[in-house]
Amino acid sequence: MNFNEELRDRVRFAEEMVIKNGVMEEEGYQKTVFSAMNYSLLSGGKRLRPVMMREASILFGEEHPSLGAFMAALEMIHTYSLVHDDLPAMDNDEYRRGKKTTHVVYGENMAILTGDALLNMAYEAAAQSFDLCGDDPVLLKRAVTALKILSKKAGIFGMVGGQVYDVEAEDKDIKLTEDSLLFIFRLKTGALIQAALMIGAVLGGAGDDEIRIMEQVGEAVGIAFQIQDDILDVTGNPKILGKPVGSDKKNHKTTYVTIKGLETAAADVAAYSRDAIEQLHKLDKRNEFLEELIRFLINRDR
Ligand code: IPE
Ligand code: IPE
Ligand code: MG
Ligand code: MG
Ligand code: MG
Repeated sequence: MNFNEELRDRVRFAEEMVIKNGVMEEEGYQKTVFSAMNYSLLSGGKRLRPVMMREASILFGEEHPSLGAFMAALEMIHTYSLVHDDLPAMDNDEYRRGKKTTHVVYGENMAILTGDALLNMAYEAAAQSFDLCGDDPVLLKRAVTALKILSKKAGIFGMVGGQVYDVEAEDKDIKLTEDSLLFIFRLKTGALIQAALMIGAVLGGAGDDEIRIMEQVGEAVGIAFQIQDDILDVTGNPKILGKPVGSDKKNHKTTYVTIKGLETAAADVAAYSRDAIEQLHKLDKRNEFLEELIRFLINRDR
């Protein structure tokens, strides 16, 4: 199998986990929010975070019964972050994953609630999967550690924290430096990628030092990923990207491209990705596919 086929396979598996743990029957008085949850969740995202989580788990070797639930939980949290990120009060964007954004289709009130619902559903799925550990204390302890990481990396010390300073800088015209922009990238984008790699590692049986290495890897991959996102906001094709280009310019955002220019930005995507792979090499284990995925993302066009 070549890399693209392997990736397709893994994305398909991630997709199955999302469907199994996150897709709702659209019925009852809350059926509108169930429908909006399904709409945002089943709309052709790349599923990179759950794919990375599984690869991190494979790297350390053991199958954990909660892995599928945590893969879905992370994708639900990521999806909620996008639903809220696109709201008029935030980036005010009309397309996401090749379709109209959730608030355009369901209204702003329902989009806010859909984000809230996805966030809670994520923790519900993760917590319920604890039952699958039976009374095995080792498996249970790993699941508890995974939940701690998820909650920290999704919240104010992670994704939400980064989004806060991102929108505040925009609203108040705060001049961002490379340093403060990287702070935003580490949190708004890096944190959920760190969660993917760290949770996969924990569930796979990694020790504390190994988990710390995965955290470093996630930081570097996250920064590279967001720099490339800023580049694609300028050079991307909206049909391939599935979201508008020029969103950052419209919002007068300081981005990696406005600070460093396109050429340096592209070189830095490669440099941060190389750094991530070097960090991985500190481990005495290898996952060729994970390394290939990190290299593949350097030139992603969506
Ligand atoms: C978009 O993430 C938001 C960023 C952190 C840049 P992705 O590019 O992973 O979005 P989907 O999940 O594939 O739609
Ligand atoms: C991603 O930043 C932040 C999130 C955590 C949702 P952007 O605002 O640049 O992401 P896109 O470009 O809308 O996907
Ligand atoms: Mg944003
Ligand atoms: Mg945005
Ligand atoms: Mg962007």
